[in-house]
Amino acid sequence: MKNILITGGAGFIGSHTAVELIEAGYGVIVADNLSNADTTCLEGVEKITGQKVPFYQIDCCKKEDLRKIFTENRIDGAIHFAAFKAVGESVEKPLMYYHNNLLSFITLLEVMVENNGGAVVFSSSATVYGQPDSLPVTEDTPRKPAESPYGNTKQICEDILMDAVKAHPCLKGVILRYFNPIGAHPSALIGELPRGVPNNLVPFITQTAARLREELRIFGNDYSTSDGTALRDYIDIVDLAAAHVSALERMTGHNPDGSCEVFNIGTGKPISVMELVEKFTEVNRVPVRYKITGRREGDVEAVWADTSRANKVLRWKASRSVEQTLANAWAWEKKLRGIN
Ligand code: WQD
Repeated sequence: MKNILITGGAGFIGSHTAVELIEAGYGVIVADNLSNADTTCLEGVEKITGQKVPFYQIDCCKKEDLRKIFTENRIDGAIHFAAFKAVGESVEKPLMYYHNNLLSFITLLEVMVENNGGAVVFSSSATVYGQPDSLPVTEDTPRKPAESPYGNTKQICEDILMDAVKAHPCLKGVILRYFNPIGAHPSALIGELPRGVPNNLVPFITQTAARLREELRIFGNDYSTSDGTALRDYIDIVDLAAAHVSALERMTGHNPDGSCEVFNIGTGKPISVMELVEKFTEVNRVPVRYKITGRREGDVEAVWADTSRANKVLRWKASRSVEQTLANAWAWEKKLRGIN
């Protein structure tokens, strides 16, 4: 059995990825400092899979703490999710973002090189494309200068992994550029747990439907889109998690030249903010109060993925409908809040 270290494995994407990996026959070890998560989702992973998951509450910036994991376990690869992810906060606290997001990744790579290397999946973001000149974006669409320190840390970490794989033949790398991950596991045992007021659209919708928030603000209806609201590519969290299994398989055999490959992970289908809100209401038969406000600073008008490279090379494709995904998101929120 291959053992995979998941840094940030207690979080939203990390916990769903742990489930997919375990179900695909991998051994999973989780490292998380719980700075933006608690153990709820880890417990959910154990319930879903019926397996105990070794958990290290450590800060990946601390080399000694990471080394301990490698001493106590044989690690064949790592998926790196441990990072701060709030765009607005990164503008206010750039040094904290650069320190944490860069140092944790560099430290992980250093410790892997000390331990005979292995496969590395880096979780990057569609944010690296900014507002692209043409749509959909392929992996060869040029990256735009980052709009925020958060976005910049994603670009820099991509470069770090590319350089590290070139210099250290013991390392293999894949970069996954996620579009907008939403939803929850169909069991409703794991899902998104934002702290405080959610920044992202779907948790804001579910919290408004659950009456934790008075109303959703739709940021701008004056974009050049059919209904004036912004377009995004919303990808089901379980589909996205499954892409990590494919990425690991790609590194353990089929990649001929050992280079660090990049893949867009999305559905390839744009949906507007308004359409998503309407679909949510329709599928779940629950009202969501909203009002239109001005645009949010830093938002792009439209971005969605060309996923043909992932479809072909990783043999991965998003398969869940957005309706199913929104039903799962609501089932998770209801369970959290004790709503019937
Ligand atoms: C989606 C759309 C908003 C909230 C960001 C990061 C990305 C990734 C995901 C990390 C936009 C609109 C939102 C609300 C709204 N990072 N919206 N009212 O901005 O596409 O991507 O989050 O974790 O790297 O950049 O996602 O969900 O915030 O917004 O109208 O209350 O919903 O303006 O058009 P975004 P989002």
